[in-house]
Amino acid sequence: MSNIGPYDERVKNFSWTIAEKELGYKPGDVINIGWYCTDRICEQGKGSKVALHWEGHTGVEKTYTYNDIRLASNTIGAFLRGLGVKDGERVCLFMDKIPELYLGFLGILKIGAIAQPLFSAFGDESLFVRLSNAETSAVITQKKHAPKVRKILEKLPHIRHIIIVDHDGVAPLKDREVAFSLQKSVPVEHLDIHPTKAESASVLHYTSGTTGMPKGVQHVHYSLISQYLTAKWALDLREDDIYWCTADPGWVTGTSYGIIAPFAIGVTQCVLDAGFSAEAWYKWIEKRRVTMWYSAPTAIRSLMKAGDEIVKKFDLSSLRHLASVGEPLNSEAVVWSQKVFGMPFYDTYWQTETGSIVIGNYPGMEVRPGSMGKPFPGITGTVLDPVKSEPYAAHGRIGLVALKFDWPSRMRTYWNNEEAFQKKFRNGWYITGDRSKIDKDGYFWFAGRDDDIINTAGHLVSPFEVESALLEHPAVAESAVVSKPDPINLEVVKAFVTLKPGFTASKDLDLEIMNFIRKKLSPLAMPQEIEFVPSLPKTRSGKIMRRILHAKEWGEEIGDTSTLEND
Ligand code: PRX
Repeated sequence: MSNIGPYDERVKNFSWTIAEKELGYKPGDVINIGWYCTDRICEQGKGSKVALHWEGHTGVEKTYTYNDIRLASNTIGAFLRGLGVKDGERVCLFMDKIPELYLGFLGILKIGAIAQPLFSAFGDESLFVRLSNAETSAVITQKKHAPKVRKILEKLPHIRHIIIVDHDGVAPLKDREVAFSLQKSVPVEHLDIHPTKAESASVLHYTSGTTGMPKGVQHVHYSLISQYLTAKWALDLREDDIYWCTADPGWVTGTSYGIIAPFAIGVTQCVLDAGFSAEAWYKWIEKRRVTMWYSAPTAIRSLMKAGDEIVKKFDLSSLRHLASVGEPLNSEAVVWSQKVFGMPFYDTYWQTETGSIVIGNYPGMEVRPGSMGKPFPGITGTVLDPVKSEPYAAHGRIGLVALKFDWPSRMRTYWNNEEAFQKKFRNGWYITGDRSKIDKDGYFWFAGRDDDIINTAGHLVSPFEVESALLEHPAVAESAVVSKPDPINLEVVKAFVTLKPGFTASKDLDLEIMNFIRKKLSPLAMPQEIEFVPSLPKTRSGKIMRRILHAKEWGEEIGDTSTLEND
């Protein structure tokens, strides 16, 4: 029997107090995610249970019990406090998927500071816009990533400390840098946990916007209620599971379901900090006897490409339940997974802004391959007519995916940008920015995004950000960035570029511009193709019409071009 049981029954009798009761929380109580993920599990007598099995790309392994992660998060929390970091201040985690990332996240929350995880692959410009917007006080990083922080430090007066977790003690520390070693620190047995309340800010995740710079999605400690219950019911996570969430905590999946929910439930988590290869992934499942696996469509498509034969080389019989998030999960992938693993990947849908799964396929429910499933109990989801901003009277029509904004883990605002937050609502509905239809049985079928944002390998890239970065290259006069289809990543970034006088298109320039963006922004934001063009399609008022370029890339109808200047 699955944790959720019969879906319709759960919907009928639903209340978030189910999670509150299980977690022993009453409205008005102190609620601190760091404490729930570590101290509480130890208080239940499970301190010696393995919380984390970690393996790095060189094959180094580390194992931490719940008591170990309690002590380590205390130690990092105490160190930050000792530096003068106060509750409410933003502390950035800028690291590979090393244990300090997970333990630091919990330590930051324990002292009531706000955790701001950022991908270690980010270039200096991506880093700068996020650190300056959040007015971050401290950055925890590794020595190999410190140069990127140093490069922009002069423009970041709010940063008081750069904490380097693997400093060798030899190289001189630079401006505002301080060394910290978890191994060499005396474990802190008692830490005064900051008495955060339900609405105290917890995590700040940056997400791409269509027209402006990235927005900081601000979450609160009460998010735990949704994250805990959705992990139990949608992912069917149980205390005795060996759980592998493949997401990086730079992405919300890696924090909501890669740290918070699994530790609050008290499972054993596995983290593999190595690049993707089908062989390495299957080996990891076999070695760790993974039972529950939460991954993403791009990875699943890559596994499909690696073929069926390789699957047979490994003993994957420990697997019990599989789920996916981040991009449309094509029906072929669901059917393939059933064939090779003996069970389907259950698609789940949510966003950085929702903080937890809001639509999903639940164990025990009939999976319709290609559908995102149904709203989680307690979530009211619908599809709005884009013109009237009201739910369609009949099913089957594509419209805007909209939600009643009332569950515990919903974002509370965009950091320093309440105006952008308010713009997400229409007629009392939260507008996700996605399009979908609902079939007669209530299943949602994803149809695409309702804006220009590019979802490449599950990561949202803003064309605006890439275009802005392109303009900083000396050869680029104008640019337009759209997506183009890709068999594995579903879509990738493509840039159309006009050159300044004196520059000519060449393979070298093409590579130079690509590299320029990779270093400035990130490998995912890097255009996979640059097309040099004499001019870009524009409206008579001079606005670049990305829509036309997009339609051409996807072989779609171009639609109305009456406003096109050069038609
Ligand atoms: O467009 C939808 C897509 O990813 C967006 C959210 O991205 P992000 O905020 O980075 O969070 C991703 C991790 C939760 C959505 O607006 N998306 C997410 N899940 C699905 C999806 N698209 C189709 N099917 C999904 N299951």
